[in-house]
Amino acid sequence: MSKTIGILTGGGDCPGLNAVIRASVKVGIEKYGWKMIGIEDAFSGLVDLNYHGPRGNRELSVEDVRGIFHRGGTILGTSNRSNPFEFVQKNSDGTQTLIDISSRVIDNANTLGLDAVISVGGDGSMRIAKQFLDMGLNIVGVPKTIDNDLGATDQTFGFDTAVQTATEAIDRLRDTAESHDRVMIVEVMGRDAGWIALHAGVAGGADAILIPEIPYRIQSVAEMLNKRFKHGKSFAIIVVAEGAKPVEGEASVGAKALGEMPRLMGAANRVAQDLAALTDADMRVTVLGHVQRGGSPSAFDRVLGTRFGHAAAELIHENKFGRMVALKSGSITSVTLEEATASQKLVPQEHQLIESAKAIGVTFGE
Ligand code: F6P
Repeated sequence: MSKTIGILTGGGDCPGLNAVIRASVKVGIEKYGWKMIGIEDAFSGLVDLNYHGPRGNRELSVEDVRGIFHRGGTILGTSNRSNPFEFVQKNSDGTQTLIDISSRVIDNANTLGLDAVISVGGDGSMRIAKQFLDMGLNIVGVPKTIDNDLGATDQTFGFDTAVQTATEAIDRLRDTAESHDRVMIVEVMGRDAGWIALHAGVAGGADAILIPEIPYRIQSVAEMLNKRFKHGKSFAIIVVAEGAKPVEGEASVGAKALGEMPRLMGAANRVAQDLAALTDADMRVTVLGHVQRGGSPSAFDRVLGTRFGHAAAELIHENKFGRMVALKSGSITSVTLEEATASQKLVPQEHQLIESAKAIGVTFGE
């Protein structure tokens, strides 16, 4: 009997989401003859069937997903404020309250006749998927995030492109740093995990890489600069993950809206300010921010997204619900949603790439 499958993308976007959507929809329609429904803006389209964002819940044809795999973003839209278990309700007095409207999602999924849902998202989305599984929704997960911090998969799509984008930016900054004899401090994304900073830092030839997993001493960074200047070098590149923190301090947090993660901001500016007291180098700060989340996915991310999207459809075909597709040692496999959310993949202090970076003179501010 033909099935009706919903597909949604949740949390922060990343390059490669459209490759997943294209693959799942093509396999669903062409291989299995399913009806594929795109749900808009994460769970928003299931919270309210009359939710009319710019796209709208809609049946997806093969034509709809043709030629989208090389585009960044997601054709379905996404949101990191639509957790149905902690939904932000706006009260008439202007205040906001978190409420649980998950049963409405189950009712609406039944109204749409969904036999299963493919949820493409990060750790938060996988936790939500597990909660819905426990409520009886047939759901499978696909891991995404530029931060690459999901423990159950060797890599998430989006990371490779973000590293490439950050590396290209560092290359550009190196040119102008050298011309002006400046220290360029570049902030990259990485809330809890420093994978982007580590990889883009090494690829971009950074002199210092500050990551959340290794609290830094600003004196060590200043020592590195002064040593460089003493040896006749007139410029330097410092890569700072947004979640980096000094030994005696916390990550630099900006605004915090109800139902959202605290926004990290100011890590690189703090490094610049603290360094100013220890060196008279001419410094400039560049925050790459959401530039790293957009753009055409790399070949690697298109391929991984395609493999994941295909594998998610196969999980549904085999009635293997409550699982997330994953990459392990080059092969696509799947893990339970419990395993998917059990651990965050942080950069181990003894990681080989950290050893290699240190061996060529990079400081981590220890
Ligand atoms: O999780 C990916 C990520 O890019 C983090 O590195 C960053 O802190 C967060 O998303 C920012 O998300 P947004 O600005 O969309 O809330």
